[in-house]
Amino acid sequence: MSFELIVATTNREKFVEISDYLKLDGLKLIPLFGLSDVPEIEETGFTFLENATLKAETIYKRYKKPVFADDTGLCVDYLNGMPGVFSARFAGPNATYEQNRKKLMKLLEGVPFNRRRAYFITQIVFFDPDGKRHAIEGRVNGFITEEERGSGIFGYDPVFLYPPMGRTFAELPVRIKNRVSHRGRALSVLKEMLKQWL
Ligand code: IMP
Repeated sequence: MSFELIVATTNREKFVEISDYLKLDGLKLIPLFGLSDVPEIEETGFTFLENATLKAETIYKRYKKPVFADDTGLCVDYLNGMPGVFSARFAGPNATYEQNRKKLMKLLEGVPFNRRRAYFITQIVFFDPDGKRHAIEGRVNGFITEEERGSGIFGYDPVFLYPPMGRTFAELPVRIKNRVSHRGRALSVLKEMLKQWL
């Protein structure tokens, strides 16, 4: 069998990365920028699950096709889970990755390493070909470093230490990071699920 799956993202890089993960015979992925009359979706939820549901549900209602949406962020224990759902706009509505990292480092100034625990989380919501909703969560635990390390500049990668490898995500080759990351873990569960319909 084969089917089309809408990926509820307008971010081209993210779509390329997701397409790379979800390569399956018979599965055709469609990004939002490949559709017309896409409804505007505001991420107004207070949890990752609320935001992912909001996106997936809006798109499912509009196109009546299988769809998945994700919401991702970094949660720092010492900051009671912040930046959390505000990870992309932590330092303001149009903040750069660097501004967000600077704000995080400032808030953690002087905090000892053992109190700098954090995790990345990706929450996926998937509407299957029968219209049934599934929620999938992927997490990776680590620590926020005291200094930026590595050449990657994506998001919080230079300040997120992945303990099993003793390196920040920005110091790891992309293929390795993608295998152990929150997004990688959630997508591998989704991939197994998708095989049922192929
Ligand atoms: P999104 O929901 O995938 O757009 O992620 C929200 C924000 O979380 C991004 O703007 C990044 O700042 C951060 N983020 C998500 N995934 C990663 C990652 O793998 N590494 C570093 N930062 C990330």
